[in-house]
Amino acid sequence: MHTNMHTITLDSETDFDGWRKAARRLAQNEVKPADVTWTVRGGEPELFAAEDNLPEAAEGTFNVSAKFVELAKAAILHRNPERFALLYRLLWRLRSHHGLLNAATDPDVAAVSAMARAVHRDEHKMHAFVRFREVGREQKSYFVAWFEPEHHIVELAAPFFASRFADMPWSILTPDVCAHWDGHEITITPGVAKSEAPGEDRLEETWRRYYASIFNPARLKVKAMQTEMPRKYWRNLPEASMIKPLIESAERSTSAMIANEATEPHKPQKRQDTPMAPKQAHDTIAALREQAADCRACPLWKNATQTVFGEGPQTASIMMVGEQPGDKEDIAGHPFVGPAGQMLDRALEEAGIDRRKVYVTNAVKHFKFVPRGKVRLHQKPSTPEIRACRPWYERELAAIEPELVVALGATAAQSVLGKVTPINRNRGRLIDHDGTKVLVTVHPSYLLRLPDADAKAREYRHFVDDLKIAAALLGQSANAA
Ligand code: URA
Repeated sequence: MHTNMHTITLDSETDFDGWRKAARRLAQNEVKPADVTWTVRGGEPELFAAEDNLPEAAEGTFNVSAKFVELAKAAILHRNPERFALLYRLLWRLRSHHGLLNAATDPDVAAVSAMARAVHRDEHKMHAFVRFREVGREQKSYFVAWFEPEHHIVELAAPFFASRFADMPWSILTPDVCAHWDGHEITITPGVAKSEAPGEDRLEETWRRYYASIFNPARLKVKAMQTEMPRKYWRNLPEASMIKPLIESAERSTSAMIANEATEPHKPQKRQDTPMAPKQAHDTIAALREQAADCRACPLWKNATQTVFGEGPQTASIMMVGEQPGDKEDIAGHPFVGPAGQMLDRALEEAGIDRRKVYVTNAVKHFKFVPRGKVRLHQKPSTPEIRACRPWYERELAAIEPELVVALGATAAQSVLGKVTPINRNRGRLIDHDGTKVLVTVHPSYLLRLPDADAKAREYRHFVDDLKIAAALLGQSANAA
């Protein structure tokens, strides 16, 4: 019996290529899942290498679907030690049962899918909760963060930080592995103990001061604050230590604010060159909307009537992103309720998408305009304004976790994909961006502006066709679920 057993030792917890190579070889040699033990090298390769007994390469190949590869690449990052065996069993069964991945109630498919989802959730959490601290001085400064991921997601999540903080050298330290960015490439090194992460410092002070400055005691909801920032995350967030003193002084500050309002004339507000509100765990859209109401991350708030935040169910499978609220939206306080919104509603309906099930938002959440007599003329938001507003989009994305983001027009595409993205070259196909599926298409107001009726009709059809891709994608996953 022992001769039939195979022990496979992978190079690391995230060694997908090693697993894939071994799994192929095992399956080609008809080695049953029950006859394989999977382990991970413990840092001393030579001690374990001798135990491996991968069968010889065999003739013939077999193909697995891209869908399986995508699922397996995510699930293998789960911390469950059974994942390698589970994935091999699924691969084994897929050879004779090609449609198996669509059988969502199958226990192996359900388990692997749940693992992949947990990994992606953890990746989003890491994007939202990593806090860098500045170490070193002036020209030589360096940014370091400590994070404890639930799963083996550091390598998966690191490119996000490399593009987001491209200009600053950083390290993210975790107990599993560490990721480092020198401005050119990401390097992965072994994990470290928490004691190696730097403590108090200047950046932390900045965050604290900022948190105190945006904290509005008149809106204090202790319970909501505590549930939205679970204790688990408090220890990594500098702003958490501000909560208690802020709560304690809230009552006094509230009466002071009321007195100030009654006696002081309105002064023009100074621009604050501060980062925007700190991110919190399990943001609800309602909580985000409330925070965004006071956003001062760019100057657009000064002339706009109000912040127009996203709207729609938190469980939405589609998140639709426009450019910025227009004149009507600015007054109503709701996205896409003016002429462009009506055009969007019509196209969605034709594509078979129920707008009530879509989360609709904008890349920039304040109306930018120049006054011309009685009219307020729309102006395109600038790149700094798009960047300043992007954290709200990120937090909406983390809260909704949609299956698909639809970017309407160039500003939305720039915000969603993090870079200027030509619409015509990229529209109408699914783009994978940091683990999120994105569909780029035109903005409905582009259709409204076309002077020629034929062109308008043609472009409208093209727009509806793009939206049908979203409908088809969701139709598919609805069948699979
Ligand atoms: N255009 C947009 O991009 N968003 C709106 O909410 C309205 C018009």
